[in-house]
Order: sequence, then C-alpha cells, then structure tokens
Amino acid sequence: MMNPELDAAGAPVLGLEAKYFNDEALFRRIVDQVFFKNWLLACHASQISRPGDYHTLAIYDQDILITHTRDGEIKAFYNVCQHRGHKLAAGSGNRKLLVCPYHSWSYDLTGKLKAAPHVSKVPGFDATKICLTEIRVENFLGFVFINLDPDCASMDETYPGIRAEMTSLCADIEQRQYAYHHSADEGCNWFVAIENYNECYHCGNCHPSFARGIIDPSTYSIEPYGNTQVLHHTSESSHSEDAWYDTSGADYGSFYLWPATSIQFYPGGVVNSFTWRPLAVDDVRVFRTFYSNDGGVDETLQKVIDNDRETTFQEDLDIVKQVQRGINSRGYRPGPLVLNPEGGINNERPIQKLHEWLRAAVA
Ligand code: FES
Ligand SMILES: [Fe+2]
Repeated sequence: MMNPELDAAGAPVLGLEAKYFNDEALFRRIVDQVFFKNWLLACHASQISRPGDYHTLAIYDQDILITHTRDGEIKAFYNVCQHRGHKLAAGSGNRKLLVCPYHSWSYDLTGKLKAAPHVSKVPGFDATKICLTEIRVENFLGFVFINLDPDCASMDETYPGIRAEMTSLCADIEQRQYAYHHSADEGCNWFVAIENYNECYHCGNCHPSFARGIIDPSTYSIEPYGNTQVLHHTSESSHSEDAWYDTSGADYGSFYLWPATSIQFYPGGVVNSFTWRPLAVDDVRVFRTFYSNDGGVDETLQKVIDNDRETTFQEDLDIVKQVQRGINSRGYRPGPLVLNPEGGINNERPIQKLHEWLRAAVA
C-alpha cells in the first residue's frame, strides 16, 4: 500500500504549486467548479425569521437573494431582475414586494412578477411566465445554505452524519439566533485562508491565547470526517488558569464543510461560524458570526468575540497576507508538508486532504 506521507515517487508530499493561489484563469475555474457547485453558508434562519424578510449576499460575481415567503418557506434566487438585468434587491429588510430600482418591475417573495408599469399594451406580454431564477436552499439546523448547482445532492447526503454530530454538541442548536458578525478582507487567495484555518501546526507559535485560553493544545486534532468532504476539529477544553471564560461543559469541536464554511462549538456552548467568499484571485472576505439563545450579546459572548477578534482572528489575518505575498515571490518553491502519521496538533495532514479535494474539483 502506498504510504500517504510520501508521493507516488516516494518523496515527501509538497505544498501546492503557486498557480493554485495566484493564476487568474485557474482561479476562475475554481470559482466555477468549487464555489458554484457546493453548499455555502448564506445566512442564519433567524435573520429572515418573519414572512417578508429578505437577505442579500454575493458569491464572487453572483448576487443572491434569500426570502421568507408568506407561506413560511425559505427561498433563494439569483438577485437579478428578469427585465434587463438590474440587481433587484439590496441589503436586507422586510417587504411585500421587491421593486426593481430601474423600471419598477415588482416581484413577490416567491419570485413571481406581480406588476410592471406600461406593459398592458405590449403584445404577447405574459407576467405569469416571468419569475426570478431560483437556486437550491436548505435550512440546516438553522443555518441557511445555498448551492448554485441545481443538480446537487442534499446537505445530509453531502455531509452525512454532521446533523447528528452538531446536535450532540449543542442540543438546542436549532433555537440559536444570529447575534453578531464582523468581516474582513484578508488580502490573500481564499485557499491560503482555508489552509491556514485547517491546520494548527502554527497555533502554539502564533495563537498563544487560543492555545492556552480555550483549548488544550496537546489534545487538538483535525481529521477527515469519514469519507466526506468535512474536516473535524476536536480538542479538550482548556483547564488552565489562563482560560478567560468558563470553558466547562462539552469540549471543543468544529466542522469545516468543504469548501468555505466552518461551524464551531467552543467549550461553554459558544456557537460561531466562519464563511469565506472570494473577491478576487488574491482577496477573500471572511465572515465571523456568533450565535446566542436570544440573539443578544451578553458579557461573556462579548468577551469571546473581542478576544477572538483581537487575537486569533487578527493573528491569522497578518499571516495569510504574508503568505500570499510569499507565494507570489519568484523564490517560492512549495516545501514538504509536515505529515505526522501519529496525528496530533503538529500536523498538516488536513492540508493534504484539502489539496486532494481542490485538485479533483478542477481536474
Ligand atoms: S431592469 Fe428591472 S425593471 Fe428594468
Ligand atoms: Fe491560525
């Protein structure tokens, strides 16, 4: 059997070639093959909890609109007017009808055209045939995911077992509500950020407050979850006196769902997520979102948010910018990954998995 720590020629497995991080044409292909064919976290159901609520977002160059219809359904559409292509809705809010800013065509929240000025005399005009272009959407334990591939498998088929795992880490997960988010443009290719997120070989060196304050680094591990495109991060809670909030209760677990979402369960019941949305070959916007029982941010949650933002989050921002610059260097040669067959925190085996998935997507 082939040793997974060596490549086909018996040499150490190397990091990815620079083109995966900085080639414009390959980036466009990755957007099409990865971002437009997989489930992506769009928002939380509590952000569109009432009939008439809508929420908008962009996945690279595709504007998306999510609605809560009068019948209580969540729907998702390309956010583009079916007249001459203006963006239909902006931001978020609550409306009976969404009115296009260009010529005032208006649509209900099921995507049907309801009114258009001065069309009564237009021969053959049939408003009942005009509808926004729908896309796949699922409410997964309160997290609203979209997929631009109409033929995609369901969330449960794509990430089998994850529903039960998340529920076991947080029994009332479906009652959680959106509480707060912040975002940042990372100044690197999206995959630099994803690699950085999915290894903790750098944690002891770069994230002293995370490694000491929340988790016990000696127990940290990141492993593929079964045969799925999920990386499961686990760790025991920190029992050190450095823990800066009450980390009792369940241990740390997070689920990175290929390609660009991670839902994290901190010790002490703090549920939070990461989402990455590419902006350009060398830029990605990361969204850091926190959830609570009532949508509020209490003192402890505020402390977690602030501490995370000022330490781990900021520390990673600084790293990934430097790495992108380094990959663009004429002197960059991908080095061997640190593949430790025994697992543990000082290990880049999850990176090897990510490479496998990325290469397969654009093969
Ligand atoms: S493009 Fe929307 S009404 Fe004309
Ligand atoms: Fe990090």
